[in-house]
Amino acid sequence: MSELVRFSLSMKRSLLERLEKMTRARKYANRSEFVRDMIRDALVAEEWDADEEVVGTATLLYNHHARRLSERLTDLQHHHHHVVLATTHVHLSEHLCMEAVLMKGRASEIKGVADLLRQQKGVLHLVLSMSSSGDKLA
Ligand code: NI
Repeated sequence: MSELVRFSLSMKRSLLERLEKMTRARKYANRSEFVRDMIRDALVAEEWDADEEVVGTATLLYNHHARRLSERLTDLQHHHHHVVLATTHVHLSEHLCMEAVLMKGRASEIKGVADLLRQQKGVLHLVLSMSSSGDKLA
């Protein structure tokens, strides 16, 4: 575990006031915790930009009645089995399905699979949640 260090920084009062306001609004105990999380968010973005090994979840909504769509989505996931870790399916209503596809691999591979899933006719929405394998965040 890294040693904890204290440091000071300078910024305009107006910016500090906005930081304090966001810290409270997001229910952080103190601004150090909020700043640490902002840095981790930036590090995760850097990992994705550098096409490193990362984790991500594609959450998609689709029409249950779209012709052969469930089968096409499953075929795609089988084809990319080296990236897809697990899938959870929820029957939201008579007509709508939600699926969460958990993936681990290079950022470009995960984005590629998410794009292929999104492009299938009958998929109404897909959002990719991008995170880190965690090795560099501790
Ligand atoms: Ni369903």
